[in-house]
Amino acid sequence: MPIEILQTGKLHTSCETALSERYTVHKLHEQADPEAWLRENGARIRAHAGSGVQADLMDKLPNLEIIASFGVGYDNIDTKAAKERNIRVTNTPNVLNDAVAELTIGLMIALARRIPQGDQFVRQGKWPSGNMGLFTELTGKTVGILGLGRIGKEIATRAQAMKMRVVYTGRKRQPSEPHVFYESLTEMARDSDWLVVIAPGGRSTDGIVSREVLEALGPKGMLVNVARGTLIDEPAMLELLQNGGLGGAALDVFVDEPKVPEAFFALENVVLSPHQGSATHQTRDAMGALLLANLEAHFAGEPLISAVV
Ligand code: NAP
Ligand code: 8YV
Repeated sequence: MPIEILQTGKLHTSCETALSERYTVHKLHEQADPEAWLRENGARIRAHAGSGVQADLMDKLPNLEIIASFGVGYDNIDTKAAKERNIRVTNTPNVLNDAVAELTIGLMIALARRIPQGDQFVRQGKWPSGNMGLFTELTGKTVGILGLGRIGKEIATRAQAMKMRVVYTGRKRQPSEPHVFYESLTEMARDSDWLVVIAPGGRSTDGIVSREVLEALGPKGMLVNVARGTLIDEPAMLELLQNGGLGGAALDVFVDEPKVPEAFFALENVVLSPHQGSATHQTRDAMGALLLANLEAHFAGEPLISAVV
């Protein structure tokens, strides 16, 4: 009997190809009537590949054994509901650390030196009328990292190469890390020139970068969010960027992606990126391969490679 799996959205091409070579893949997002399709076929599905699975979908897939998620963050999967139904969940950690860390440093330099604005300055023919101005640099600055995990540590290494001092916060001190640990995010923000947000999304971090934290970072402070939009009080951030209460922000993630509040577009002290942290051919191929390896391990009765549940 072929193993039947479900996709509910488009996946990276090499991942889709590999899945279709090994399994019978159904694409719910291509069905004319997804609900009718689920009623007729849901009981045959043994695996979900992709992201974003809630309890209502699990209920329509009564024989679902595993959710193999494409991405390390799994805040869009109801892991409690999965556990209650004995459904395993896997993600794709580590293989994307370098790509996300690279983009983070890229965004920091882009914001500090206003690289996108400089590009526009030249293209719009403004240069002959005068120079663009002077900005800031990373060298010698302190960067506070919220979430010194797998990706956070790669960001720390690269920030040190930029001659920055690294400090961090999280739920607990990591004794093997050489950097100064802060119990309080607000205090870390007050002592830092840059705040890089790279902790998971979900209930425990919702709005953790509050107005108080942003005000502590202050008028010269620079914020970088490569985690999830939900970690930051987005309206407060926007207001402080507009009135000078916060120095600048480089944002790869937003609360309601792909919709971004238009008020950001007018701000000169902001660099915007469309959730590109892991978006390289090399990394997306590796994420797809890890998703597939987890499915293969599951159906071979072997231990999962990167299990969340
Ligand atoms: P990780 O290894 O689990 O690291 C997460 C870090 O966050 C840990 O150091 C953890 O430290 C801290 N943390 C967890 N819960 C916290 C809480 N409630 N309050 C404060 N700190 C908390 O995860 P990762 O692999 O580095 O990935 C981190 C996140 O990056 C993902 O969950 C995802 O949302 C995001 N991401 C974004 C992109 C992108 O394209 N922009 C790409 C990949 C990942 P403690 O345990 O000490 O709290
Ligand atoms: C996205 C990410 O998942 O891994 C994560 O948590 O945020 C990204 O890698 C990726 O864009 C897949 O859609």
